[in-house]
Amino acid sequence: MPSALNELPVRRLTTGDLASCVGLSESRGWPRDDHKWGLLLAAGRGYGIDDPDGKGLATACVVTVYGSGLAAIGMLLVAEEHARQGVGRRMLSHVIAEFGSVPLTLYATETGRPLYEKLGFQAVGHAEMVRGRFHPLGQAPAAATRPATAADLPGILRLDHEVFGEDRTHMITRLPAFSDQLRVAEDADGLTGYTAAWPSTDSDVVGPLIARDTATAQALIASLAAGTDRPLRVDIDVRHEELLDWVRARGLETTSSNTVMTRSIADLPGDWTRRFAPLTVAAG
Ligand SMILES: CC(C)(COP(=O)(O)OP(=O)(O)OC[C@H]1O[C@@H](n2cnc3c(N)ncnc32)[C@H](O)[C@@H]1OP(=O)(O)O)[C@@H](O)C(=O)NCCC(=O)NCCS
Repeated sequence: MPSALNELPVRRLTTGDLASCVGLSESRGWPRDDHKWGLLLAAGRGYGIDDPDGKGLATACVVTVYGSGLAAIGMLLVAEEHARQGVGRRMLSHVIAEFGSVPLTLYATETGRPLYEKLGFQAVGHAEMVRGRFHPLGQAPAAATRPATAADLPGILRLDHEVFGEDRTHMITRLPAFSDQLRVAEDADGLTGYTAAWPSTDSDVVGPLIARDTATAQALIASLAAGTDRPLRVDIDVRHEELLDWVRARGLETTSSNTVMTRSIADLPGDWTRRFAPLTVAAG
């Protein structure tokens, strides 16, 4: 690593660093995603190393902490001109040391995976990113859905905790403001699922997607699609094959695949059978 960069400390990022984070995303060909960066910098802990020549950030990442049981790493980026010089390793090692024995998780791109493996992460699953315009086909899914109201929030938080396996209150309570649509599915006994659609640069991202079963997940996706003209994007756990086939038949196509990885924990907590998609791959 060049000495000037080597000597600069890893510092905590704030929402004041939003523009530099967006610049870093764009420099690596990722969507700008200002909206997502804004959420992550506010609700999570951002880390960065400044570019020694004052050109914004040389690297950044964000960690979203869920109690003492899990922390999710996301948005690890190294500026192209500083790549393959040990900067990513330094940043990740810093985060690992900061969190000590707290279990860590992340969604790895193909480019990021070798680095994570070297630093003790292991693959525990995969998620397929599908994107496209949703075209309804055949009979509408039967499960009843409706927009969430303030009165639903305690129920959403309870269901989310049960299925995610950790308390995500600080993220989930931001969803009414962060998302364009927040919807629930219910039966006579209460909530059976919920989902949100939030604006990314080129599409509306569906997530979280939590549902009692595939039919409920389908109904939630179809209801979100009916409320937007934009393409949808969703990162579906590949174990939910039936849902993947269903969205593909309705126009969504695989754009990439991410590996779910963990460190200091054998698998993710919670109930994967009801967890269809993360809020964002950057935060679990
Ligand atoms: C992935 C990324 C963060 C790695 O950062 P980096 O600073 O270039 O990586 P480093 O130089 O610290 O390399 C760390 C180790 O991983 C290895 N490595 C890095 N990129 C690699 C690649 N594409 N293939 C194989 N090995 C790779 C290096 O050889 C190095 O090994 P070593 O320390 O044993 O020599 C950076 O390439 C990046 O920002 N990519 C685009 C965004 C992205 O995909 N981020 C990951 C999101 S999950």
